[in-house]
Amino acid sequence: MDHFLYKNGALYAEDVPVAEIAAAVGTPFYVYSTATLLRHYHLFDEALSGMEHLVCYAMKAASNQAILKTLGDAGAGMDVVSGGEYRRARAAGIPGERIVFSGVGKTADEIRLALEGGIRQFNVESEPEMDVLNAIALGMGKVAPITIRVNPDVDAKTHAKIATGKAENKFGIPISRAKDVYAMAGAMEGLDVIGIDVHIGSQLTDLQPFELAYEKVAELTEELRADGHNIRRLDLGGGLGIPYHQSNEAPPLPSDYGALVKRTLGHLGCEIEIEPGRLIAGNAGLMVSEVIYVKEGEDREFLIIDGAMNDLIRPAMYEAHHDIIPVVEPAAGSEQTKYDIVGPVCESGDTFAKHRSMPPMQAGELVAFRSAGAYGAVMSSEYNSRPLIPEVLVKGDQFAVIRRRPTFDEMINRDTIPEWL
Ligand code: LLP
Repeated sequence: MDHFLYKNGALYAEDVPVAEIAAAVGTPFYVYSTATLLRHYHLFDEALSGMEHLVCYAMKAASNQAILKTLGDAGAGMDVVSGGEYRRARAAGIPGERIVFSGVGKTADEIRLALEGGIRQFNVESEPEMDVLNAIALGMGKVAPITIRVNPDVDAKTHAKIATGKAENKFGIPISRAKDVYAMAGAMEGLDVIGIDVHIGSQLTDLQPFELAYEKVAELTEELRADGHNIRRLDLGGGLGIPYHQSNEAPPLPSDYGALVKRTLGHLGCEIEIEPGRLIAGNAGLMVSEVIYVKEGEDREFLIIDGAMNDLIRPAMYEAHHDIIPVVEPAAGSEQTKYDIVGPVCESGDTFAKHRSMPPMQAGELVAFRSAGAYGAVMSSEYNSRPLIPEVLVKGDQFAVIRRRPTFDEMINRDTIPEWL
């Protein structure tokens, strides 16, 4: 459920007409709903009630500080995957003890930054990383809390580019080697081995892969405890999918997921962490764009809009579907036509949808991409020298620009022409 609904014939973000935001900030832009962000956070928090837990929002999904502060003020922790994300989370007021550091390639500088600033735990992904972390911690006179990310070799049944839990993926250490690697970690003075981490992929619409992975984690917990490790925290990753087709999809709910966690892991008495990104931010954001031209092709009509693949890359990169709806509500039973909906970037991959049914549209009208809150703005670029588009946050009847559109000069003047040229 989200808070982008038609009221009186117009699309609203909570209590603000989307067209009013467009008039104020220009198109294209992203707009997020505070109520939806918080609703999704609380659904997870409630799903794990009865177990000691922390919901660590995977901020890679949407990392604007206003979003982080919204969630952080509600009690969320953060899952970060770079020094930049760590700094951004801290800048938004998230304390170090609520930040977990994931990622396969943490650099020495990033490790030092987090150890200095405070960190809840590092999710270690390889033996060489473990050595580096141990050496840095010892050098700083600190002990780094860690989990080790295990790769359970489970098929997440999602898009190949976002599956992470198979043996062929670069993530974690093979679960078959876990006991040896934990033994090595346990012997390192600079590390405090507190738990196990697992994350098998993103946009999972079936609970079964989670179940297989978590059963393996439960087994491993018992084995490691028998080996003398004090396993007391389980980080279960993110990955729960969202309905991208509003009309005909019903992926499992956070409450179903929470029941699964309790069933598979509840008996172990561990503190549970989860790292959802998409389910918190995805349906909390729209990308809004204006139709520039309606163009007659040989055998089809193109809706050419001012948003492009550099602003929202998911369709080009993952063949992802986003519902695209007019900002003026179509009259009930109104005529439908089919469009290829494309952006102005100079490659055919800049296509958002093919043969998409829409009411007839005209230049100057607005469309909204649903489910664009996660992996939208964060994956945008300035390809074709198109400035990054603004982000707007709505709360009730208020809205604010939370990242403004840079001027062309700001964008262009980041380049330096060498003196010798
Ligand atoms: N934890 C770890 C270690 C992750 O790698 C990810 C996502 C998450 C948590 C959050 O997963 P979520 O709950 O959002 O599914 N750009 C792609 C998605 C990439 C996901 C990467 N890792 C897309 O637009 O679909």
